[in-house]
Amino acid sequence: MRMIHPLLSALALGMAAPLVAQTAPATAPAAAPAPAPAAFTLPALPYAPDALEPAIDAQTMTIHHGKHHQAYVDNLNKAVATDAALKGMTLEQLVTKAGTLPAAVRNNAGGHWNHGFFWKTMVPPAQAGTASPALTKAITAQFGSMDQFKAAFKAAGTARFGSGWVWLIVKPDGKLAITSTPNQDNPLMDAAEDKGLPILGNDMWEHAYYLKYQNRRADYLDGWWQVVNWGEVSRRFAAASKR
Ligand SMILES: [Fe+2]
Repeated sequence: MRMIHPLLSALALGMAAPLVAQTAPATAPAAAPAPAPAAFTLPALPYAPDALEPAIDAQTMTIHHGKHHQAYVDNLNKAVATDAALKGMTLEQLVTKAGTLPAAVRNNAGGHWNHGFFWKTMVPPAQAGTASPALTKAITAQFGSMDQFKAAFKAAGTARFGSGWVWLIVKPDGKLAITSTPNQDNPLMDAAEDKGLPILGNDMWEHAYYLKYQNRRADYLDGWWQVVNWGEVSRRFAAASKR
């Protein structure tokens, strides 16, 4: 199996967020400079905030996207603006080198990438669909059955102490694996214990579920399957598995 460079995820997911040249044209009037655009911006949710109910309530989605994700974007822009060495780097470049970068960059680049990935991992329940035959076959081969996979994913999510993420990844050897990362780390990072291309991920921060589920993270993990976008996950799997 031929692995695609980790940056494929950016292409496959349509998440590339290249830095934008901010230098005003030489002919621009000095007295009226246009405000420089932010290098990284908050992507719109691909559905209405209430579209994932009852699995995830509208208030949680509104705050999660508009406050938490926005904060990662804002703080990433601040961190990058103070370090000339980071100018011109894409989000994916920052993420893959996160282990060598300041904590503010690692945390906020991870937060921005993870949440952009997360929104596209979900879809309104009526559109959830099913895993492709190829992905179903791979999951069955690795975990025994779809139900056993879901049980293992839930176990990894509930076992993540504190805040973090639980992932289904395609490893460099082409096999599927479940892993979890602390804070806003992810499996693309050089610092990740288990590296691979994420195709599915769930947010284990309390801000993702506390309003509806309070301390019942296991219930959130169970309900979340109702809104998993299996079409998107299957497409990511196919992209990561191209020969
Ligand atoms: Fe989150």
